[in-house]
Amino acid sequence: MSGLSDLVGVLKAAGESTRLRLLALLADGDHSVKDLTEILDQSQPRVSRHLKLLADAGLVQRHAEGAWAYYRLAPEGQGAELARWLTARVDSTDAERRRDQERQAQLRATQQALAADYFAQVAESWDLLRTLHVPEAAVEGAVLAEMAGRSVDLLVDLGTGTGRMLEVLAPAYRRGVGVDSSREMLAVARSRLAAAGLTNAQVRLGDIAALDPAIGPADVIVIHQVLHYFDDPGRMLAQARRLLKPGGEILIVDFAPHQLEFLRADHAHRRLGLSREQMNGWASIAGLDVLAMREFPGDSKDQGLTVCLWRLQDRSRTD
Ligand SMILES: C[S@@+](CC[C@H](N)C(=O)[O-])C[C@H]1O[C@@H](n2cnc3c(N)ncnc32)[C@H](O)[C@@H]1O
Repeated sequence: MSGLSDLVGVLKAAGESTRLRLLALLADGDHSVKDLTEILDQSQPRVSRHLKLLADAGLVQRHAEGAWAYYRLAPEGQGAELARWLTARVDSTDAERRRDQERQAQLRATQQALAADYFAQVAESWDLLRTLHVPEAAVEGAVLAEMAGRSVDLLVDLGTGTGRMLEVLAPAYRRGVGVDSSREMLAVARSRLAAAGLTNAQVRLGDIAALDPAIGPADVIVIHQVLHYFDDPGRMLAQARRLLKPGGEILIVDFAPHQLEFLRADHAHRRLGLSREQMNGWASIAGLDVLAMREFPGDSKDQGLTVCLWRLQDRSRTD
């Protein structure tokens, strides 16, 4: 329960058209201030002012990441309840809302095209690049250990790149499918898998943001060093969960929060690592439980990045 003036404050924060548009955009997932500014076509100080009012009223949450700040709907509290109540009632055919959604889709397509250009350029050298600054051998050993003694029917590797995880985890599945949006990466993956004689693994072209449900249902999904290429990793997790069997698991490998801004500028990263708290929030919204999380600190002499391994499980497990 809250005092009258507190409630009026929350209503005032939500009761303005730009702020309602912001809430509707954030109901679709995390966004950076930079992207929100472009979508709304308003100045950055103006958008930041609106966001601050929403955050002060408990309707949204801010997360600073290097030079960028991300916002999302507040996960709990009366502000969160009001934000969800309101955004569920915004008419998707409303002209302003439709324009915002079109701009959001255009922006995502542009960002994806930039990332695709980057991966097209690095495809041949990816196997070397992927080991830079990270304790790769320890991480791969731990991923394999997560599957130890198991042989699942279908393992799906999202953002498979050169197919390395399909190769590492080959003893643990009867059928492996890798999905990636880069033809260049997939070309390298195909020749690698063929050279390794892995006839039960195949790779296919696809967009993780719009996964074909016919790929599943999978027992295990692997998402290895992929989520930080997306502004909203939670949206990708929700997509991935749709491919899982009830009780199926997702193994995620990604960076812990860091400050290496050059990874954005030079290597197409969007998020500077993912925190434990963020992953808990995204997983919970996607209907997944976080079963375990391990950290692998990098070598600090080498700008070492800490790598995290998460094990998530579909909440509708039948046991
Ligand atoms: C950093 S690489 C990781 C590759 C592999 N998992 C590994 O660890 O070596 C990220 C991969 O995600 C792919 N990717 C990025 N956005 C994607 C999307 N929207 N749909 C499918 N794949 C995507 C890229 O093409 C790239 O191969």
